[in-house]
Amino acid sequence: MERFLRICGRGGYVTMAVLSVVISVVSYRFVPLGVTQAMEHMAHNLDGNALALYAHIGGAPLALAVMPFQFWAGLRLRRPVVHRWLGRVYVAAIFVSGVAGLQLAFHTTAGSFAGTGFGLLAVVWIATTATGLAFAVRRDFARHKAWMLRSAALTFAAVTLRLYLGIAMAFDADFETAYSLIAWACWVPNALAVEVYLRFFRAAGGRHGAGIAVAN
Ligand code: HEM
Repeated sequence: MERFLRICGRGGYVTMAVLSVVISVVSYRFVPLGVTQAMEHMAHNLDGNALALYAHIGGAPLALAVMPFQFWAGLRLRRPVVHRWLGRVYVAAIFVSGVAGLQLAFHTTAGSFAGTGFGLLAVVWIATTATGLAFAVRRDFARHKAWMLRSAALTFAAVTLRLYLGIAMAFDADFETAYSLIAWACWVPNALAVEVYLRFFRAAGGRHGAGIAVAN
């Protein structure tokens, strides 16, 4: 059973890491192509909201790419300096792209329900990350880990959003309706899943290496 949990945990971690890095790299397609061609539905932001647009689409994929490495135990134990520097990059990228994401949420063309979902996500994303940082500074590493797991689950919303959108489109769902629902569904279940993990599985996972703790 212990071995089974460890294999599941490792598989889940590797899948999460690969998806995060792939979505991050794909998100930078605006660099060679330009926003208008790469993400046409975002182009309205170029008129008067370009700073927030570039701050978000430049910074958020960086946080997504860095995130899995922060939960890789080998790296953290063997190269603590790298963990600290990547941590600074992660937090800075979230502060910049989170504030920008909040600004974009006010300007989304997807309606107020989607805008509220994204806006609240931005606030909770910044708050969990800031709390994780504060506990690191106080050297309370148990709480630092728990809050950074909460932050990571929200960062991973970038992946779940695109997965759910892909599934919705495959089932020919109405785009507007699907997008509005997914603005919430991309992060609320992630946040709840981490709470369940922290409440019920962390003790076992921490000892046996199950779940994300495999990388701790
Ligand atoms: C977790 C907090 C996040 C919030 C609150 C947020 C918010 C937003 C908002 C409001 C938009 C505009 C949507 C619209 O107007 O329809 C947007 C677009 C975008 N976001 Fe985020 N975002 C977050 C995380 C991320 C992450 C981690 C990435 C990393 C890949 C990312 C990459 C992008 C990209 C590339 C776009 C342009 C849309 C597209 O992909 O075609 N965001 N985001």
